[in-house]
Amino acid sequence: MVSQADAPLVNALKECSRRQQAVFYAPGHKGGRGISSLQQTVFGQQIFQVDLPELPELDDLFAPESVILAAQTLAAEAFGAEQTWFLVNGSTGGIEAAMLALCGPGDEVIVPRNAHQSVLSGLILSGAMPVWVAPSYDPQWQLCLGVDVDTIAATLRQHPHAKAVVVVSPTYEGVCSDIAGLATLAHGYGIPVIVDAAHGPHFAFHPELPTAALEAGADVVIHSAHKVLSAFTQAALLHVQGQRCDRARLHQALRIIQSSSPNYLLLGSLDAARHQMANQGALLMERTLKLAQSARRQLQDIGLPVLDASAVGIFQQDLTRLTVDVSVLDTTGFAADVWLHERGVTAELPTLHQLTFIISLGNSMGDIDQLVHGLQHLPATEAVSKSQLMLTLPVAGTSPREAFFADAELCAVEDAIGRLSADTVCLYPPGIPNLMPGEVITAGIVEMLRLAQTVGAHVSGLVDPTLQKFRVLRVDD
Ligand SMILES: Cc1ncc(COP(=O)(O)O)c(C=O)c1O
Repeated sequence: MVSQADAPLVNALKECSRRQQAVFYAPGHKGGRGISSLQQTVFGQQIFQVDLPELPELDDLFAPESVILAAQTLAAEAFGAEQTWFLVNGSTGGIEAAMLALCGPGDEVIVPRNAHQSVLSGLILSGAMPVWVAPSYDPQWQLCLGVDVDTIAATLRQHPHAKAVVVVSPTYEGVCSDIAGLATLAHGYGIPVIVDAAHGPHFAFHPELPTAALEAGADVVIHSAHKVLSAFTQAALLHVQGQRCDRARLHQALRIIQSSSPNYLLLGSLDAARHQMANQGALLMERTLKLAQSARRQLQDIGLPVLDASAVGIFQQDLTRLTVDVSVLDTTGFAADVWLHERGVTAELPTLHQLTFIISLGNSMGDIDQLVHGLQHLPATEAVSKSQLMLTLPVAGTSPREAFFADAELCAVEDAIGRLSADTVCLYPPGIPNLMPGEVITAGIVEMLRLAQTVGAHVSGLVDPTLQKFRVLRVDD
C-alpha cells in the first residue's frame, strides 16, 4: 500500500536515472550525455538524467497502471478528489479537455466573462455556445469579485438546458465564489460545475485558506500546480468527483489535447509537489499566510490600500494574494511594475490601477521587506482616472467555433467597428479575452484597448499592434 509519505513516480525516475544502459531511445541527449557546455552551464547535468521517456518502469500517462496511477491516486487523496489526472500542458489543457468532455457542438454552456482564454479555446474546440454572465464587479477596485449564485440561478432559469457552468475561483486576485451554492444550484439542473481553480491548488492544506472547490462540491476542478506549489511550469492537475462528467470521454479529450510524449520532469514534479503538500502543506501554508499578513499590515501602515474581502463583500479571499491599489500614489500599475522590476521586485499582475503579488511557499521575509520597501518609495508618474478598463458583456454575432473557421479579412479600424472579430484579443496578463472570434468590435472596446496600450498594458492577439487594422469576418456579397 502506498502512502502520502511515498513518491512513486519520483522514486521510479530516480531508479531509472541511475541505471547504466546503452540508450537507443529519445530524447536525443541520452540522459545528458549529449548536451553542450551551454546546456550544462544553464541547466546542469542532473536534470537531463531524469528527462526520460515512457520506459516500462515509468508507466504511461494515457493508460496508467503502475507508478503514474499510484502517483495520481495519491494526488486525488491529497487534494480531495475521486480521481486525478496529471497534466503536462498547464491548466489550459485541463480546461480545454473538460469542456470537450462536457459540451458538444451547439450546446449551451454558462461562462463568466472573466474566464481565461483557455475557456474560449474549449468553446472553439467543442463548438459549444457560451451564455455569458457578468461576474459581480467592484467599481472602486475595478475588479471582478466572482460569480453570484443569484446571477447563475437567473441564467439557468433562462437556459435550463445548458450543459455545464464554468466558474473561475479563485481569480488572479484571490477572489473566490460560493462554489457550494453554485454546485447545489447546478446539480438541481443535473449539470456539472467546472471550476477553473488554476490559482487555488493550496486551499486544501490550511483551514485559513478559502474552501477548496472539491470540498465545496464542484464536479471538475483544474489546478495549476506550478502557480503556487513547487511543480515545474506547465505542470497541472485535473480532478473529478461524482458521475456528472463522463470520465472515459474526459480521458479521450486529454489524449487529444496533450502531447504524446509527456514530459517526465513535469510529471515527476507533480508527484513531488503533492508529496511536499501532503506532508508539510499545513506548515508551509501557515508560514506563507504569516508572510502575507505581515506584508498586508506594513502596506496598510504606509497608507497603501490592499484588497480586503471584508471591506468589499468578497465571498472568500485567498489572503496569500496581495492586490495593492497604487493609484493613490498617482501612478499606474503598469508604471509601478516597470519601476519595481528594475529594482528587483517583480509582481505577478499589473493592471491599470493595481499590482497583484503572489506570495507562496517559495517566499521569505527578506522578499516581503523588499516588496514593502519598493512600494514605499514608488514615485508618482501620472494620475489616471478610475475608468474604462472594464470587462463588458460581448455582443456575440456567431459561435466562437464558426467564427474561428470563417473567412476573414483585414480591415481599417473605422470600418471594423460594428463587424465581427476574427481574433481573440486580450490584455496579457491576465489573459481574459476582451474580444473573441464572432464578437462585435465596438468603439468602446477599441478605445479601451488604446487606453490600455497607452498606459503600458500588453495587448495580445492583435494582427496590427498599432490598432489601425483588425481582422474581421468576411461578409458574403
Ligand atoms: C484563471 C486562469 N485559468 C487558467 C490559466 C491557465 O493556466 P496554465 O498557465 O497552467 O495553463 C491561467 C493562467 O494564467 C489563469 O490565470
